[in-house]
Amino acid sequence: MRIADWSRATPADAAALAALFQRAEAVAPVGMEQRAEDVRNRLATLGPDSAGRTRVGRDDTGSVAAYGEVADMGTADDVLRIRLTNVFHPDIADDVRAELHHWLIDQAKQLRDSRDSARAVLGIRCAENDRAGRELLISGGFALARHERDLVLAVPDEPPAPALPPGLVLTPVDERYDELARLAHNEAYADSPTAVRPDRRTWPQHATGHPRFLPDLSCLVLAEADRSDNPVAAFLFALADGSTDTPTAVLHCLGTRAPWRRSGLATAMISQVLHRARSAGVRRLRLKVTDSNHSALALYRKLGFVESGQGFAVLMRQLTPEADEQP
Ligand SMILES: CC(C)(COP(=O)(O)OP(=O)(O)OC[C@H]1O[C@@H](n2cnc3c(N)ncnc32)[C@H](O)[C@@H]1OP(=O)(O)O)[C@@H](O)C(=O)NCCC(=O)NCCS
Repeated sequence: MRIADWSRATPADAAALAALFQRAEAVAPVGMEQRAEDVRNRLATLGPDSAGRTRVGRDDTGSVAAYGEVADMGTADDVLRIRLTNVFHPDIADDVRAELHHWLIDQAKQLRDSRDSARAVLGIRCAENDRAGRELLISGGFALARHERDLVLAVPDEPPAPALPPGLVLTPVDERYDELARLAHNEAYADSPTAVRPDRRTWPQHATGHPRFLPDLSCLVLAEADRSDNPVAAFLFALADGSTDTPTAVLHCLGTRAPWRRSGLATAMISQVLHRARSAGVRRLRLKVTDSNHSALALYRKLGFVESGQGFAVLMRQLTPEADEQP
């Protein structure tokens, strides 16, 4: 299969892109959105600058058969983080893959230069079973950085009761705490180099404004007599899973701020979600976790989560001006 025409992605492409992502995920899963509304949300979170760094490829019948995207993930320690995404129809020709790869690298260089950054690092997902895709990346200077595990837990008939230390309360997500929850989120994820740390503009799409946000299955833990400015000790934001027929809730992000860790807060939040899930008819919880996140993996294993087989690899590459000579 070949590409007859490339154009920039617009919200009007969301349904066709979702159909492409479904088709590609069935063969080589990398956790792409499966519904048009989620694709629209993805494009909206790219921001005005990155929106121009998208590419939709149509075959000669007009069907969407390829997608490329270069996204600015923010700067950490003076290094610009750039996420590359490429999705193909399973029958796409090898040289189309190679051409899109070169386009992504070229756009990433332009993005780095437009930010006046001397250094940038590229990250890209690759399905665990996509050997050809991985070889193309490795020949282009990428190296395996980590594996993202996809874990699932069947909702038990009798979930354990949530239990918290004195002075802490479980509370529904409430818009009064929206900004404090964002700050708590970014603080909890501060040591996770790959985590998204949304600013005020992108926070709604990341959490409460996400089209699949599940308010009843999300919660905060508040410290009643907190002496700092922020009483949000822990948070859990859940989304409906749009990729399966089994009613499933995705634990999209959860964390406990450092002073409250190892006190059972994450366990209590997940226990509460299990109770609510049970009464809401949700049969399964699901989440993604990086294999280097040992504390989170220990937490999920203790609670009984198991691998679904839908995980993927993440490969990275430095993008310094000296490396510009590489393909
Ligand atoms: C992972 C995280 C959410 C755990 O929160 P928490 O409130 O400290 O977790 P809990 O107190 O409920 O821990 C329950 C169990 O998980 C395991 N666990 C949690 N943190 C651990 C750690 N640092 N090392 C080893 N095991 C750990 C233990 O088995 C623990 O039980 P124990 O304390 O009786 O030994 C927290 O460390 C965090 O916010 N990390 C940064 C954000 C993040 O990675 N979120 C998850 C993304 S997928």
